[in-house]
Amino acid sequence: MIKDLFAKKPLKLLLEEMEGENRLKRALGPIGLTALGIGAIIGTGIFVLTGVAAHDKAGPALILSFIVSGVTCVFAALCYAEFAAMVPVTGSAYTYAYATLGELFAWIIGWDLILEYTVAAATVAHGWSHYFQDLISSFGLHIPYILRDAPFDFNPATGHLFATGTVMDFPAIVIALIMTYILVVGIEESATVNAVIVAVKLLIVLFVIVVGAFYIHPQNWHPFAPFGYGGLSFFGKTIYGRTSPGGDPLGMLAGAAVIFFAYIGFDSLSAYSEEAKNPQRDVPISIIASLIICTVLYIAVTAVITGMVPYNKINIDAPISHAFLQVGLPWAQFLVSFGALAGITSVLLVMMLSQPRIFLAMARDGLMPPKFFAAIHERFKTPWKSTILTGIVVALLGAFIPLRILAELVNIGTLLAFVMVCAAVLIMRKTNPDAERPFRCPMVPLFPILGIAFCLLLMFSLPVENWIRLIVWLLIGLAIYFFYGRHHSIMAQHRRKLAQEQQKPAPVA
Ligand code: ALA
Repeated sequence: MIKDLFAKKPLKLLLEEMEGENRLKRALGPIGLTALGIGAIIGTGIFVLTGVAAHDKAGPALILSFIVSGVTCVFAALCYAEFAAMVPVTGSAYTYAYATLGELFAWIIGWDLILEYTVAAATVAHGWSHYFQDLISSFGLHIPYILRDAPFDFNPATGHLFATGTVMDFPAIVIALIMTYILVVGIEESATVNAVIVAVKLLIVLFVIVVGAFYIHPQNWHPFAPFGYGGLSFFGKTIYGRTSPGGDPLGMLAGAAVIFFAYIGFDSLSAYSEEAKNPQRDVPISIIASLIICTVLYIAVTAVITGMVPYNKINIDAPISHAFLQVGLPWAQFLVSFGALAGITSVLLVMMLSQPRIFLAMARDGLMPPKFFAAIHERFKTPWKSTILTGIVVALLGAFIPLRILAELVNIGTLLAFVMVCAAVLIMRKTNPDAERPFRCPMVPLFPILGIAFCLLLMFSLPVENWIRLIVWLLIGLAIYFFYGRHHSIMAQHRRKLAQEQQKPAPVA
């Protein structure tokens, strides 16, 4: 029984499975993949969360927060890239954990990745709704108040929930369902739609940097770190830095833990290995390229926005477009909201594309019901049933749960996945030292260890409620594993069959 829990999926088996039937279409090249990466990265984080993070947590020091988060992601990205090149099958961190840490950890990580993809998609659907409402307001149009936002929200100052007076975020539901339709119809179409959207979003980000630079007032960068540089706490006890009246950590590190969300998505590229034409070379290149491009852009955008508007006057719902309104350029506000909307749409597309592929990998291993989660549409060649399920869950979460609660939950879940992937690289180098590694993470063990340390640093810079939510989520996952996955696991079934055969008395000659 214990053996089953820690049974590892051999690397050879993973590679053999790639050759099997019922596989996804190999349609993506390096540029398409990098576009998917950027498509997954630049979105609600920079366009929406920058507002809360600068206003409430870090001030202009948010520029440094982006560097800390970016460095964290580079370490994790190098580890992801090593795995993505070595095991280019669908399933991302889940598959890597199965090969190195065993079935139980693989399940935990797969379950944890739901926080990263589905809950992130819901967060992004909310962000989309904010910018959509901002955009149509330029034409004097408004959604009825009760359909504008989630029915409750969290007040960080008091630490309590309050009713917003609305019923649901209706635009979030609509966009989630439109994306679901596009994704069921097929990956090639999705990649093309994505490439166009990514081009629009990059142009708008460059516009923000170049035009915004003319409106910078350096005095807005003073004080640079009004909340200090800290923000580290251990289960509610502040270790370094200040706390808000509601008990949440404040400062540059606390800001880094919030805007970490802006970087999430580069890792989802590893989920497309199975659809890449030349995964060994292209997946690592595109993971690292898209991450570096986004880091540079984020630092520049944050420097510009905090230079344009005093940090305590930054708008919380649509900070980037409002900064242009605040300096007297309403036409630029319209342009930026339009670009933000396009940018956020492509993030949603990629997040909702990734989740069903993780389910697919888990279902193929028997840890989830394969009839549902491994069903590939005959004509479209997409995992259509789980795509529809993901779409419905994203729509519901996006409609009813507030953005800041969703975003922090996503961050802690994703950081945990990164910790596991960094650890898995260290383990795999010991257990399979001679396996072919088309891309090697440099400076092992230093870089994976730094990756783990930075991720833990950010996890401890998030408000304590997130730890509680994460633990509850993992406990629910464990219960499902012990009731379902453990009994249906293909690996465990093989082992049991083998054991029975060995116990049978040898036939008498
Ligand atoms: N990085 C993605 C975003 O900011 C999740 O929307």
